[in-house]
Amino acid sequence: MKSDRELINSEGRRLDGRSPHDLRKIKIEAGVLHRADGSCSLEWGGNKVLVAVYGPREAVPRHVQNPLKAIVQARYNMAAFSVEDRKRPGPDRRSVEISKVISEALEKVVLIEQFPRASIDVNIEVLDAEAGTRCAGLTAAGVALVDAGIPLRDIPVACAAGKIGGRVVLDLGKEEDNYGDADLPIAISPRTGEVLLLQMDGHLTIDEFNEAFDLAMKGCYEVSEIQKKAILQKYQSAAAEVQE
Ligand code: CDP
Repeated sequence: MKSDRELINSEGRRLDGRSPHDLRKIKIEAGVLHRADGSCSLEWGGNKVLVAVYGPREAVPRHVQNPLKAIVQARYNMAAFSVEDRKRPGPDRRSVEISKVISEALEKVVLIEQFPRASIDVNIEVLDAEAGTRCAGLTAAGVALVDAGIPLRDIPVACAAGKIGGRVVLDLGKEEDNYGDADLPIAISPRTGEVLLLQMDGHLTIDEFNEAFDLAMKGCYEVSEIQKKAILQKYQSAAAEVQE
């Protein structure tokens, strides 16, 4: 097990050279799959995530339908080859939990009242995992929902902050997640600042919690800009093709 001192040095440099307030590198591309209604591929540090959105379409089986609104069904899945020790394929407690919290977060921004009895299916496939996959999946889902043309109040976005070596830092990497003191992933609606998801692993004092929360919020706004650029890029190149 790594000691705290190794995760962040006295000058505030982290294992990968980042300073406490730096995000890992993020790359987002909208509309990468042809058979899905909307899609997104996202790389965030060493995470690689692919999201496909289908719908709104009639929810099946019928007993899951809500006559007043649509349901949002996110399915988070980690590929067997996405982690160091091969992961047993199929759902487990962790993936069921992550699917549930992401579904609930997305339901708060989709205009579900417009689509009674329908389902909006969001398939999140983690191809490479290096800590922060729920944030990566939710952020990619936001872009894929836009790509599918689903009416939204806002584009949801997620980012985590945490604590390593006694310091609050943004966007934990793999070693920081494994050997650090706490992780606080959040998702927000950037337009209103409404919190759509908040989870915490580890221990933080109230002051540390407030600092980590503010830092994660700031991270969300940074990631939100990258999301918007990816969406613009897709539609600007589509518009250029139509003009040609
Ligand atoms: O990925 P996220 O931080 O949202 O969730 P986590 O449960 O805190 O998992 C942290 C990291 O542990 C994942 O991103 C993977 O890199 C790793 N992990 C793993 O190696 N094997 C698993 N079965 C689950 C997670």
